[in-house]
Formats: sequence, structure tokens, C-alpha cells
Amino acid sequence: MAHGRFVSFEGIDGCGKSTHAAHLAEVCGKIGVEVVLVRDPGSTRLSEKIRALLLDPENFEMARECELLLYEAARAQLAAEVIRPALLRGAWVIADRFFDSTTAYQGGGRRIDASFIQKANELGSLGVVPDLTFILDLPVEEAARRRAEEADRIELEGNAFAEKVRKAYLALAEAEGTRMCVIDASGSMDDTFAQVAEVIGTRFGGKRS
Ligand code: TMP
Repeated sequence: MAHGRFVSFEGIDGCGKSTHAAHLAEVCGKIGVEVVLVRDPGSTRLSEKIRALLLDPENFEMARECELLLYEAARAQLAAEVIRPALLRGAWVIADRFFDSTTAYQGGGRRIDASFIQKANELGSLGVVPDLTFILDLPVEEAARRRAEEADRIELEGNAFAEKVRKAYLALAEAEGTRMCVIDASGSMDDTFAQVAEVIGTRFGGKRS
């Protein structure tokens, strides 16, 4: 279906993926590629409203099943309204998170059964799968130190939860094989981006659509 390229960035909170997704989008834009940068949950009017519900610490009573379905709802709107049309017209989509976050957070973190997660992800993504997914990996304590803003509802779960999420990402990378690329994000921003750029060059070098 898709003619463009779809690259997603994943990792625990504070790993730097938003910075690297934005930087990659900027670099691609400079070489004349049409780039659409999105964040999941978010990047559409409805998905941003759902994001606010999901992250508001006041919504502490949210059941894990409600949480799962809200992430999928936000993603379905994002895929339908932005991602799918962009890929169809040949653009590059760079996503700050996509369905692997659900596998790691709601599966690994909240312990929702993997078979539900997989089905929910298929529905929420409208079957759209990234061509390449970076997992920016670093120790939980270092990620917590790097987080600048006040903690949202998910971040308030703390380091033990983040540890489960990190483990789930690493297990996912083992299971998924070539779609995923684990990057050591414990060094400087420049070191980390150099690794990202090298993988992009190897995978997609020369091809712009
Ligand atoms: P962000 O702050 O990286 O944009 O992500 C918002 C939070 O939502 C972050 O703590 C990770 C969490 N999240 C999930 O728990 N499940 C998901 O499917 C997604 C996309 C994000």
C-alpha cells in the first residue's frame, strides 16, 4: 500500500526520542524529502484531546483496559487522518512513538495479555507498520535524570514500571528482527544521532520514495 517511508522512534520516557525524531525530520527536509513529523498519541485534533485525557495525572483511576483503548483510539485517528495519506503520496513519516509503545507500556508495563495487545494494535494502526523502528535504550535512572518537565500520569508510575517497559522493548527487538534497531542512547545527543543517521543511510540510502 505505502510508497513513502515510515520511521518510528521508541523508548522509555526521557530517552531523547522526541529530539532525535525532530532532528531526523529536519535533516530529511533539508535534502528535499517531504517529511511529516507526528507524535503518538497526538498530531490530530481528536488525538490531542485523547492525549490530554491519557496524560492528565488527575485521571489516576483510569483502568488499564481503558488506557489501552484510548491509546488505540488516538492512533487510529492519526493513522487515518495523517499517516496513511502521507505514505500514499510518497512522504516520509517520522513518528515519535507508534504501536510498539503499546506493546511495551500496556503489555510489558501494565501486563495486559499479549494476544489482546496484538489485536488492539492491528486495529489501532489500521494495519500500518513502520519500515524501521529505533529503540533508544538507556538505563532507567539516567532517563529519569534527563526528563525536564513535570511528570505526567504514566511517568508517575516510577522507575520500577519504566524498568518493565525497558525490558519489554528489548525483548520486542529480539523478537521482531530487522524492523527494529536498538541504539545506545546513553552517550551525547550527537553520538546517538550519528548512530541513527548511519542506520538510515544503510537502510534507505539513495532512495527518496
Ligand atoms: P510521550 O511523552 O513520549 O509523547 O508519550 C506519552 C506517554 O504515553 C509516555 O509515557 C508513553 C505513554 N504511551 C503508552 O503508555 N502507550 C502507548 O501506546 C503510547 C503511544 C504512549
